[in-house]
Amino acid sequence: MAHLKINTTEIEAGEGATVLDAAQQAGVEIPTLCYLKQTGAMTSCMVCVVKDLTSGRMFPACSTKALNGMHIDTHGEAVCEARREILRLLLNEHVGDCEGPCSSICPAALNIPRMLRYIAAGDLDAAAHIAKRDLIFPATLGRLCTAPCEKTCRRGSYDTPITIRRLHGEISEKYLNNPALSIECLPKTDKTVAVIGSGIAGLSAAWMCLVAGHACRVYEKAAVACPALRTLPPEKLPPEILEAEIASVRDLGVDFVLNCEVGVDLPLEKVEQESDALIVACALHVSPSEKVFTAQEDTMLVRAVGHGKAAARRVDAFLRGLPQNAIPQPFNSQIGRLHAEEKDSYAVERLNKIDSTPESLHDEAVRCLHCDCLKPISCKLRQYAEEYGLGPRLKRTMARTPVNPIQCGGEVLFEPGKCIKCGICIEITRNAGEELGVTFEGRGIDSRVCVPFGEALARGLGKSALECVRACPTGALSLRNEEETQ
Ligand code: SF4
Ligand code: SF4
Ligand code: SF4
Ligand code: FES
Repeated sequence: MAHLKINTTEIEAGEGATVLDAAQQAGVEIPTLCYLKQTGAMTSCMVCVVKDLTSGRMFPACSTKALNGMHIDTHGEAVCEARREILRLLLNEHVGDCEGPCSSICPAALNIPRMLRYIAAGDLDAAAHIAKRDLIFPATLGRLCTAPCEKTCRRGSYDTPITIRRLHGEISEKYLNNPALSIECLPKTDKTVAVIGSGIAGLSAAWMCLVAGHACRVYEKAAVACPALRTLPPEKLPPEILEAEIASVRDLGVDFVLNCEVGVDLPLEKVEQESDALIVACALHVSPSEKVFTAQEDTMLVRAVGHGKAAARRVDAFLRGLPQNAIPQPFNSQIGRLHAEEKDSYAVERLNKIDSTPESLHDEAVRCLHCDCLKPISCKLRQYAEEYGLGPRLKRTMARTPVNPIQCGGEVLFEPGKCIKCGICIEITRNAGEELGVTFEGRGIDSRVCVPFGEALARGLGKSALECVRACPTGALSLRNEEETQ
């Protein structure tokens, strides 16, 4: 037995226990990437670094024995900075996109590749649901958006970009007034939000507040909601499309107070008193206070949706008593622009040969290269990058390594650029007695995971394929047809 301290907790650790075991016993979670109970310590990532305050030494918790007299600091400033540095090094070598370049640039953050996968699979309900959930006004935007996403679409480097705007517009028009699109709201809170102004930003903010569980009332001085867009000629925006999308906001539960100019027909103080938070989405000047938020309208409509969603996130954090800096900033690793010599490598296993501009929704959707990661939620590298404040983007301090082709083994995809060389898959195939297994080839920074004798991935992973995918701490090993839902 060893008697030691984990932060402020005294622990009796069993014979042979590691510092990681002792921390677990004390209920303290230490991040790990290359450690798994069944494979033991690989000691390749060092993200589990801790500091022994007794000796002043720093070491990996997963492979260091717990000893008498240790006083382990698991989350002090020096330890966290060391972890941040380790994560920076890993991410500097990392070549992968957490989100598709198209989604990253969309101000409303539409999950475009997932929507396209649903269209390609013929599941238009699911595709339209994603478009509605993320864009709130997907059919209106299908007519009016300037489509910045299409300018970054990687398919454009090969022939023509995916016509994203047309796709979400057309499926959403098919689903106007369709109850199948019902959006789930979080359980109701006892809070009420007032939104002043019923443009696209105001209504998007109202919608998101409702989804977050708060009651919401929208004040509009005109006799109708969203008056500015109603002045557009019908060939640009058919009135029934806008009407149906405004009705969906009302149907979700937003209470509209029309013909009511706040500050003229109704004192601002009364609106403030009757609500727990206020979102100003018009030109009205409201003195700043902790319960006043802004959702700026924008001539670029999709940006107005983004502003509305962002305001609702800030309001939700405020109403739940969370600090504004607690609003999650998802980390997003990005490959960036492909170099000319990388185009072929990137396209292997991704490029669908349909190269005309197809008419059908399906044929257009299958042209997508699926640039996004298939494990955006379970990836521990992304989780830690977020937790240790490296998000939303990492500024590389060295040139990124080249893109390597994706390899396929049946349902399993292997993306070498996302591999952190933890060794877990190697150990799993070895323990399972796979005939070939996988192994490291090369040395140091140039080493990489491969199947011996240049054999196919499926042969190397053998019957351990699924276990390797589940154990891989990043999106390097994933299942072609498995979506992690957000
Ligand atoms: S492996 Fe992780 S960090 Fe890399 S792209 Fe996928 S989710 Fe992002
Ligand atoms: S190819 Fe698909 S995932 Fe890649 S940028 Fe274009 S739409 Fe997005
Ligand atoms: S592919 Fe293997 S070595 Fe690479 S990160 Fe995944 S489990 Fe680790
Ligand atoms: S070195 Fe401990 S988890 Fe990687």
